Amino acid sequence: MTELRPRADIVAMDKYHSPQVDVAVRLNTNESPLPVPPEWIQDVSDAVKNVAWNRYPDRSARPLREAIANRHGVSPNNVFVANGSNEVLQTLLLTYAGAGRTVATFEPTYQLHAHFARISGAKVVSGQRDADFELHESEIRRVLETAQPEVIFLCSPNNPTGRLEPRRNIEVVVANAPGLVIIDEAYAEFSDWSALELVTEHSNVVVTRTFSKTWSLAALRLGYAIASTRIVEELNTVVMPYHLDALKQVAGERALQYVEQMQSRVAGIVQERDRIADRLGQLGIETWPSGANFILFRPISAASTGPETVWQKLLNAGVLVRDCSTWSGLDGCLRVTVGTPVENDLFLKALCWAVGKRE
Ligand SMILES: Cc1ncc(COP(=O)(O)O)c(C=O)c1O
Repeated sequence: MTELRPRADIVAMDKYHSPQVDVAVRLNTNESPLPVPPEWIQDVSDAVKNVAWNRYPDRSARPLREAIANRHGVSPNNVFVANGSNEVLQTLLLTYAGAGRTVATFEPTYQLHAHFARISGAKVVSGQRDADFELHESEIRRVLETAQPEVIFLCSPNNPTGRLEPRRNIEVVVANAPGLVIIDEAYAEFSDWSALELVTEHSNVVVTRTFSKTWSLAALRLGYAIASTRIVEELNTVVMPYHLDALKQVAGERALQYVEQMQSRVAGIVQERDRIADRLGQLGIETWPSGANFILFRPISAASTGPETVWQKLLNAGVLVRDCSTWSGLDGCLRVTVGTPVENDLFLKALCWAVGKRE
């Protein structure tokens, strides 16, 4: 019997995995280091008792979508919810990309944009950021004019560089896009500008958000898109029926009642981010301005060891960061998620040791 193999383009794909290593200080996947409010845990425990477990969940996830809509001052008809923003992105691509269509990204950026696009069967065209990870208007225009992509991705703040996309760049993309513009704002609350207002002004703009980072809820797997009612309807045609379970719907809705606690966690992380960036600067380690909860850095070792060695030394010291050095355009780079003050001190101490600098 011959075993059926996946499509040739899928066999050839890189696997996207961040190692889940059991280590004391995990600073590799941009999660929140801080727990959710205990009151939220109580809310969810109470909700478990009231779920009609024998019934399919509310397919429209109405109360959750209303709560998200209230937070952003839009209508629930402008909100699409799914299992993490990854499922939101995948559904967008299943709906608007696919065979015979082109998706544009500006590299380096979140790898799953191109990955999901390829899985949908679309062709991926990559524009390039400069050596400092800034995107030039001329590059935007070149990609849009030559490729005429049906779907264009921007990520702001951009993972893994941390840079916030300037408003001007987003406006140039939106004004010249032949198709849909997806702005991935997984880290928006850590910065001071969002492209959300563009959704109401332009029917070809979608903004995606997640509960995984600012809301300390990576385990919940909940994300959403804010878009025109037409786009939300079209996404609902493609996504699986009853994809969002009943408990998740309540858990997400209740989380949105703790906005102040979320904002104070975010403020603490931003403060710590700036402290780490200052220290890296004092150590003479190259970094780029971050509007997110992580920092990309290029460790230059006194003993001129490579980034993998620094990564391994950090791991030996009990600190796991993301090794981005083999990704295109990121030679020598590692990425650290902002942790608790204690974790950040452990990271900085381990880094000094790894690159042969005094603490
Ligand atoms: C830019 C970006 N978009 C989307 C995601 C996926 O988030 P979620 O946990 O909501 O699927 C991530 C996760 O790291 C991310 O960095």
